Amino acid sequence: MYVCICAAITDRQIQAAARGWATLLDLQQELCLGRSCGKCLPEAARIIEETQQQGQRSDDALTA
Ligand code: FES
Repeated sequence: MYVCICAAITDRQIQAAARGWATLLDLQQELCLGRSCGKCLPEAARIIEETQQQGQRSDDALTA
């Protein structure tokens, strides 16, 4: 699903970047996410947070 229509960036692209611990600022700079109308920024931030929380839980499970 496209999250940023202006730059044609999908949720999967954002999730993949977030798994590498990219920040919203990283995506803005590297993929041009949110640099036109900016309407995608709240959803992109939510996807990043959710993806990184899932990754943190996985890391915790491995070290427990
Ligand atoms: S939808 Fe992302 S900048 Fe417009």
